[in-house]
Amino acid sequence: MKNKKHIAIFASGNGSNAQQLMQYFQHHSAVEIKLVVCNKPDALVLQKAATMNVATFLINKEELKTAEKMLPILQQHQIDFIVLAGFLLQIPNWLIQNFPNKIINIHPALLPKYGGKGMFGRFVHEAVIEANENESGISIHFVNENYDEGKIIFQAKCSVDENETIETLSKKIHALEHEYLPKIVEQLLNE
Ligand code: GRF
Repeated sequence: MKNKKHIAIFASGNGSNAQQLMQYFQHHSAVEIKLVVCNKPDALVLQKAATMNVATFLINKEELKTAEKMLPILQQHQIDFIVLAGFLLQIPNWLIQNFPNKIINIHPALLPKYGGKGMFGRFVHEAVIEANENESGISIHFVNENYDEGKIIFQAKCSVDENETIETLSKKIHALEHEYLPKIVEQLLNE
């Protein structure tokens, strides 16, 4: 019998948010990070998962389109909830249907602005700075069939100062993400 909620993190890159989640829930009474799913064999997130003794699963774009390979793995790990933390492939309908309101994404801007296809990582910060915004932030939202359009669960803001660069803004955004993502996941799983 399992008494904890099981989470799978989907990530494609560096995985600093994944790491934050793995650390936050490492000795948690109600939540366990069970699996890291990744589409890039050389992504740093895989090493981070290995260091934290979290299982990993590599999948490519084609394989993700059908349930055949992925669903049995999610079932085997008894996954209840999925967190996308820098995962760059589109989430297919079969996965959304199997996890209704159980998949969330973190986006490094204040949606609905600066979202959609191609809006990830430094492209987001570049667009925010070029538009002379004086604030940006993070959005945590449910995932539906369209990129970055599911219901927003939480947002936090930071300033965009004069002389802000992609690097300085990215640092501020990451700090917000690391502070809030684990807490929001915890809240959602407590509901
Ligand atoms: C984060 O900024 C997140 O908002 C976005 O991808 C980035 C992933 O960063 N979806 P990291 O790999 O967790 O450092």
